[in-house]
Amino acid sequence: MLVTMKSILDHANKHNYAVMAINCINMEMVRGAIAAAEEEHSPIIIQMGIGQINNHAHMEDIAPIVQNIARRANVPVALNLDHGGKWEDEVRAMKLGYTNVMIDASALSYEENVSRTALVVTAAHAMGISVEAELGHVGQADAGDGRTDDMYTNVEQAVEFVQETGCDALAVAIGTAHGQYPEGYVPKLDFDRLAELKAALQMPLVLHGGSGAGEENLRRAVAGGINKVNVATDAFQVAKDAVLAKLEENPKANYMQMEMAAEAGVKAFVKDYIHVLGSNDRYTFEDKDTGSKE
Ligand code: 13P
Repeated sequence: MLVTMKSILDHANKHNYAVMAINCINMEMVRGAIAAAEEEHSPIIIQMGIGQINNHAHMEDIAPIVQNIARRANVPVALNLDHGGKWEDEVRAMKLGYTNVMIDASALSYEENVSRTALVVTAAHAMGISVEAELGHVGQADAGDGRTDDMYTNVEQAVEFVQETGCDALAVAIGTAHGQYPEGYVPKLDFDRLAELKAALQMPLVLHGGSGAGEENLRRAVAGGINKVNVATDAFQVAKDAVLAKLEENPKANYMQMEMAAEAGVKAFVKDYIHVLGSNDRYTFEDKDTGSKE
């Protein structure tokens, strides 16, 4: 079933687990991810970043694919615009039936972030769509952003930001970064700050830059109040590796077999992630509307 991201994350927040948000660029990734969620009785969030949308996975093309597969699924699925920035992209996504939009104005001034986020929240909520915002700034791993804490989310400011904007979920900067970290580097996360943020906000919190964050960090982050973990780089790598492995196994493999290998690879990857984040067995076919492990 296709649901708002808010409904997924409010449940995760209440029951202390996190949901994987996987960036997908094609049908095979979407199918693999949703099939994994169904087998694990887990909610799942399918998203596309604005860069992926502009370069390849055009919103108008991929949204109906996700929506069709999601509606047939017996677990909750949300469709999220990841890192939306421009007002027109937010509107495009809302019109296409995305069930959540992220507005990322985190690189701008605090005041600008508040006003842009509040505007998107007003429009999205009027359409029954939920909103993720970002405060503090999660940068790029290859720029070394994972090693500085000057852009981490400020707790008092976060409380004010949520009050002023009415956003439904907040992406916080606590030490992860997007993309691939330098070889052998595992980010050090500020779990004290996460605890302060969770205590002050008591709302769904989002961790960007799941790739390379390390299982131990992810488990601690979920225990500390993270309810959504974004994963892009590692998911694309898994799909690529699965295709390469298929070709190695059978150099004559046809294109369909390669696509199917990518789908199976993504499915296995998502199933593992679901267990790390603790979202497995939250929904069963019989209990799909209210599902929980209570
Ligand atoms: P990674 O590519 O580091 O997994 O980051 C994904 C992300 O945060 C998308 O918003």
